[in-house]
Amino acid sequence: MSYYNISEELEDAILTIRIDRPQKLNALNRETIQELHEALKEAREDEEVKVIILTGAGEKAFVAGADISEFADFSPKEGKRLAAEGQEKLFNYVAEFPKPIIAAINGFALGGGLELAMAAHFRIACDNAKMGLPETSLGVIPGYGGTQRLPQLVGKGRAMEMIMTAGMIDANQALQYNLVNHVTEVEDLLDFTKEIARKILRNSTVAICNAISAINANYEPGKDGFGVEIDMFGKSFGTEDFKEGTTAFLNKRKAEFPGK
Ligand code: COA
Repeated sequence: MSYYNISEELEDAILTIRIDRPQKLNALNRETIQELHEALKEAREDEEVKVIILTGAGEKAFVAGADISEFADFSPKEGKRLAAEGQEKLFNYVAEFPKPIIAAINGFALGGGLELAMAAHFRIACDNAKMGLPETSLGVIPGYGGTQRLPQLVGKGRAMEMIMTAGMIDANQALQYNLVNHVTEVEDLLDFTKEIARKILRNSTVAICNAISAINANYEPGKDGFGVEIDMFGKSFGTEDFKEGTTAFLNKRKAEFPGK
C-alpha cells in the first residue's frame, strides 16, 4: 500500500515505520492516524514482520502532537469523538499490538506524540529529544491516553506536574522518570533500537505475544493480571515454540523457533 504521511522499511524482520510530515513536525492529522492504523494492520498479518519501530522523519521531531489546525473549531461532541476514535484506531491498537512496538524518539514528542510513544511497548530516546504534554496550555487535556499512561510510567505526582505545567522534559530527565529505557546520541538512535529489536528476535514470538497480553492486563481495570498470567503460562505449554525452546536447551543448542 502507498502512504502519503508515513514511510516504511522492512529489514531482517524489523519494520521501521516513520511518521513523515516534517514540514509540520510530523503532527498527527486524521490521515496520518488512519495510515498508521492501516500500516500496523498489515504488519500484524505479515509473518515477515516480527518487531516494529516507530520513529519520526527528520532530526527535529518524533511527533509534535495532534494536528492543532484540525480541531481548533471543534464542538465538545466532535472533541469527544476525536479522542475516542484516535484511542481505538491508533493508541490502544499500538498498546495491545501482539508484536513488540518500540518508539525511537528522535526529537520533540509532544501531546499526541508523547501519547503515541507511551502507547508503544517501550521507548528509546536520543539526547536531543524533548517530551511533554502541553495540552493544558491550549485549554484542553490530553485525549489520546496521556492522563492514564503518563502516571503509569512516571508516577502520579510527576504526571500531575508535567500536565499542569505543560512543560517539556529532556531525554535525561525522561530516563530518570522511567519514561524512556535508554538515551543515545542522535546518530545512534536507530542502530541502537535495532540492536534491541534483534535481541527480541532471538526469542519466541508466540511467548512474546502472550507476555504482552499478561503485562498489559496489569493496567486494565477489572482484569486479574495474575490470572491472565496463569492462563498465558499454561497456553505456552501447547505451543511448538515451547517444545523447541525446551528441547534446544536440554540438547545444548540454539533454539530455532517456528513461531507457532
Ligand atoms: N499541530 C499542527 N501544526 C504543528 C504542530 C501541531 N501540533 N506542531 C508544529 N506544527 C507546525 C507549525 O505550525 C509550523 O507550521 P508552519 O511552518 O506552516 O507555520 C511547523 O509545524 C513548524 O513548527 P514551528 O512552531 O515553526 O517550529 P518551532 O521549532 O518554532 O517550535 C514546537 C517547535 C514543537 C515547540 C512548536 O511547533 C509547538 O509548540 N508545537 C505544538 C506542540 C503542541 O502543543 N502539541 C500538542 C498538541 S495537542
